[in-house]
Amino acid sequence: MYRLSTFMLFLALGTVFQQSHGIEVNVTDKDNKLCLYANLMVNFSVSYEVTGNKSATVKFELPLEAETSGSVCDTTTSTLKLDFGDGHSWSINFTRSGKIYQADTIVFSYNLNDTKLFPNSTSNETATVTVKPHIINVGVDTCYSCKSDDLIEADMVSQTLSNVLIQAFVSGGSKSDNLTTCAADVPTTTVVPTTTNATSTTTAIPTTNVTSTTPPTTSTPVPTIPAPSTGKYNVTASDNKTVCLLATFGLRIGLLQNNKYEEMNLDPNVTTAHGLCGVNISDLVLVSGPLTLMFTFTNDTKKFHLHALNITGNTGSGVAFSEANTNLSLWEAAISSSYMCNKEQNSTITDALTLFTFKLQVQPFGVEKGLFSIAEDCQADAESFLVPIAVGVALIILILIVVLAYFIGRKRNMSAGYESF
Ligand SMILES: *[C@@H]1O[C@H](CO)[C@@H](O)[C@H](O)[C@H]1NC(C)=O
Ligand SMILES: *[C@@H]1O[C@H](CO)[C@@H](O)[C@H](O)[C@H]1NC(C)=O
Ligand SMILES: *[C@@H]1O[C@H](CO)[C@@H](O)[C@H](O)[C@H]1NC(C)=O
Ligand SMILES: *[C@@H]1O[C@H](CO)[C@@H](O)[C@H](O)[C@H]1NC(C)=O
Ligand SMILES: *[C@@H]1O[C@H](CO)[C@@H](O)[C@H](O)[C@H]1NC(C)=O
Ligand SMILES: *[C@@H]1O[C@H](CO)[C@@H](O)[C@H](O)[C@H]1NC(C)=O
Ligand SMILES: *[C@@H]1O[C@H](CO)[C@@H](O)[C@H](O)[C@H]1NC(C)=O
Ligand SMILES: *[C@@H]1O[C@H](CO)[C@@H](O)[C@H](O)[C@H]1NC(C)=O
Ligand SMILES: *[C@@H]1O[C@H](CO)[C@@H](O)[C@H](O)[C@H]1NC(C)=O
Ligand SMILES: *[C@@H]1O[C@H](CO)[C@@H](O)[C@H](O)[C@H]1NC(C)=O
Ligand SMILES: *[C@@H]1O[C@H](CO)[C@@H](O)[C@H](O)[C@H]1NC(C)=O
Ligand SMILES: *[C@@H]1O[C@H](CO)[C@@H](O)[C@H](O)[C@H]1NC(C)=O
Repeated sequence: MYRLSTFMLFLALGTVFQQSHGIEVNVTDKDNKLCLYANLMVNFSVSYEVTGNKSATVKFELPLEAETSGSVCDTTTSTLKLDFGDGHSWSINFTRSGKIYQADTIVFSYNLNDTKLFPNSTSNETATVTVKPHIINVGVDTCYSCKSDDLIEADMVSQTLSNVLIQAFVSGGSKSDNLTTCAADVPTTTVVPTTTNATSTTTAIPTTNVTSTTPPTTSTPVPTIPAPSTGKYNVTASDNKTVCLLATFGLRIGLLQNNKYEEMNLDPNVTTAHGLCGVNISDLVLVSGPLTLMFTFTNDTKKFHLHALNITGNTGSGVAFSEANTNLSLWEAAISSSYMCNKEQNSTITDALTLFTFKLQVQPFGVEKGLFSIAEDCQADAESFLVPIAVGVALIILILIVVLAYFIGRKRNMSAGYESF
């Protein structure tokens, strides 16, 4: 009955917003009111071991029929659990903090003893994989909508989520018409003016009405913000009180959240640095207002590189975010030297986060007397070698022109001489 009335409402509004081929689930609370709504498709690809020490891969979809009794709704956490087939289950849990909620983990358990799904499996156990979906900063009282495919890979299992429409923490017993749309569904040309004021604390969360048929606003050019000031940061070893990590750079981050792209400069005047130095790993932690940036460098015996970057903070509109990549290979240089890059450099850290660096020099290992060792220049700087070459070439051409002009002038003078006779 409930479903029917919702359907009628949409018909009345004349919009079909989601083609649902997927499973649709309504989880109700103890008062029998809707508390979690989901409509989604999940395609699985599972590799498992078969007899003869070989591996097989099967692909299947989350069926349209599943048991939802393992689902629970609470005020700040809730879980959607779908039990299906012969002992398989898929669950996603959400946490709410203030005006936003996010999905924390997806847990998929599959029973390898199910010979229909996993023929010839050598194991008869139930395997479990836990992955982290990229469903964050969803406004409370909005549905998270993502029609695009979202591939989430783990060791033996890859899951493709598509046509996702989920609302956790439903209030008032009915699903919201307002959406928080995933970045992948937004045309990439969409850019929204940048915000440099990181201290603003308004908590408005951008939402779009389902009934609105206008596409998202298109290409407003990003106003360029001035280059960030260069900051000098260092880390002192706790045991011998000597400087063991040096960093000098101007930093800007570009962040895509809730379909809005914004850039923020790090102001060195209000940034503090701490961290730790190890033999194999050194960390630099910068704290600037609500922003915390953690750079993790690793010592690969002969070289070092920036291995991980974790940035947490608030967007200009006060929405919390956390972006991390623990598999980077940036800023590589020999262990006894520093890495230097004077040019503006940009690096994609995650789908939502870009790091821009200016006048960069770092040395995370082997700092002596608090000074940078010899610097290894980034490739980008190699282009600056082209400048003297270009100047040289231009000079040679100039000389040729002058010489040519001289000879032409001489010839003219000579012929002019003939005429005067
Ligand atoms: C999921 O699998 C079905 C058939 O198995 C296929 O039609 C569909 O395109 C797949 N979806 C994705 C997102 O891969
Ligand atoms: C299966 O293959 C692995 C290497 O691929 C090997 O180490 C292992 O001994 C093999 N096991 C059997 C039972 O043949
Ligand atoms: C699972 O397999 C092990 C041996 O591999 C066997 O001892 C056990 O009884 C099996 N369990 C079930 C439930 O089939
Ligand atoms: C949708 O959002 C608008 C403002 O953004 C709000 O006025 C309205 O109540 C919301 N509708 C629902 C169903 O939450
Ligand atoms: C969104 O819906 C609310 C009511 O649900 C309405 O007041 C508002 O004008 C709508 N906004 C847009 C942009 O259509
Ligand atoms: C001080 O300690 C750090 C790490 O604990 C080490 O890298 C550095 O070499 C030490 N410096 C001196 C002068 O002992
Ligand atoms: C930082 O402080 C210095 C001097 O204390 C000042 O000249 C500079 O303008 C400040 N920079 C910013 C971005 O506030
Ligand atoms: C880097 O690692 C190697 C091997 O782990 C070690 O011998 C060397 O001392 C380390 N260098 C520094 C500066 O910590
Ligand atoms: C550093 O790494 C080397 C080899 O990777 C290892 O032997 C050594 O124990 C590590 N040192 C520390 C302090 O973790
Ligand atoms: C990034 O830092 C935040 C806050 O310290 C932490 O909760 C999160 O787990 C970190 N992420 C990674 C991948 O380390
Ligand atoms: C880390 O990156 C390398 C190449 O950049 C890739 O081969 C590897 O699979 C990545 N590892 C993880 C855990 O993402
Ligand atoms: C990142 O750098 C590349 C070249 O290094 C440049 O083409 C590109 O425009 C830069 N991207 C941004 C967003 O500045």
